[in-house]
Amino acid sequence: MEKREHWGNSLGFILAASGSAVGLGNIWKFPYITGENGGAAFIIIYLICILIIGLPVLIAEILLGRKAQKGPVSALRSLAQKNKTLWVVIGSVFFLTGFIILSYYNVIAGWSIGYVVEALQGNLGTFSNAAEASQFNATLISNPSWVILWQFAFIALGAFIVYFGVRKGIERIAKFLMPIFFIILILLVIWGLSLDGSEKGLSFLFKPDWSTVRFGTVLMALGHAFFTLSVGMGVILTYGSYLNKKDNIFFSGIMIALLDTFIALLAGLAIFTAVFAMGFDPAGGPGLVFNVLPAVFSQMPGGSIFASLFFLLLSIAALTSTISILEMLVSTLMDEFKMNRHTVVILLSISIFILGIPSALSFGELEGVRIFGLSLFDSMDYLSANILMPLGGLFIALFVGWNLKREEVMGELFSGFRDGSGNRKLANSWYFLLKYIAPILIILVFLSSIGIIQ
Ligand code: TRP
Repeated sequence: MEKREHWGNSLGFILAASGSAVGLGNIWKFPYITGENGGAAFIIIYLICILIIGLPVLIAEILLGRKAQKGPVSALRSLAQKNKTLWVVIGSVFFLTGFIILSYYNVIAGWSIGYVVEALQGNLGTFSNAAEASQFNATLISNPSWVILWQFAFIALGAFIVYFGVRKGIERIAKFLMPIFFIILILLVIWGLSLDGSEKGLSFLFKPDWSTVRFGTVLMALGHAFFTLSVGMGVILTYGSYLNKKDNIFFSGIMIALLDTFIALLAGLAIFTAVFAMGFDPAGGPGLVFNVLPAVFSQMPGGSIFASLFFLLLSIAALTSTISILEMLVSTLMDEFKMNRHTVVILLSISIFILGIPSALSFGELEGVRIFGLSLFDSMDYLSANILMPLGGLFIALFVGWNLKREEVMGELFSGFRDGSGNRKLANSWYFLLKYIAPILIILVFLSSIGIIQ
């Protein structure tokens, strides 16, 4: 069996895990749901949710991985005190969730690199309104060869990186791409702020309007806090399993959550200053990024350049998330079946490509195929993001809070600093949130997302 790899340093882990967390959720979903849910008021609630639910579960996942030094299924098996079979089933559900998410995430990720190419060819700078841009989008995404070509290209790219392993593949690419990502994002923010009329975007994002806050708003913030940090499917657990015993779990968790939140806010700034300055509708919903933004870019000098940069940003965000899911799948199979990394990467990427084809075609040929009224793509998304992920997060919280002994958990948390100088008070609050508060809140979000409570 191959010896388990480790990150070269904790910066590598923090960048790779932030790369996993920063994805379509930050650049597309966060700005748009913020806009629809009262702007600044929503942001405040969301920050609280990150703090009391997202971060505690994130830290728990890192801790589980680091303690077990294994992928999700093997980790749960080796650490479960009782009901081992049940926990192995739960671990396998993590695997399944990742498999499903990856199959459709790659489709959208494929669109983003496809859009970089379109932008470079100047095809995204010619729209006089959002309707024209959505028409263009509809033509592209219903074209089977375009979608499948880019979906394939994207999977191949992700597989290529994961093929080289943790340190030479994932860590190296994260250290290379995350700074580039950041520079592009800052450029786009400066550009957005420099446009005439950008202040309307600012007040939309940062002036709290509490009158729009409902119970549903809080649940939305809670659900997103969870999704955006990539917790609940063993991906962060897998990344945590490559951590060295001397690394500080608490500090890493806080850094990842901070970076993720900061990047979501910056993305909101870049997008809404531009959308408002150009007089477009901020509530573009799912179509905001692909339908509204190209029209926004068309209205301004140098639009094609900013369009290329923006879609490159989106592609990088999606790529670093994709490889984290693929790595979780790879590590699960390697640990469970003692298989070789290279074989596993190739087998998995081919099967993910095949499973993703129906989702890819669900905007064209297969548009009419519905499961409970949802398109193939939407049903994959609903099943994984609204059902499997919250359940996964609940199980992580229950496992660390109730299955492991308190001393074991604290021992792992403080293994990096044996002198006991770690902040015990902070650790105690974290433990309390994880054991009692997070499970209750996650159950609430779950019940609401499947429509049992409104
Ligand atoms: N956090 C990612 C985003 O914001 C989405 C996501 C959810 C994810 N779960 C994941 C990414 C697991 C990688 C791994 O877009």
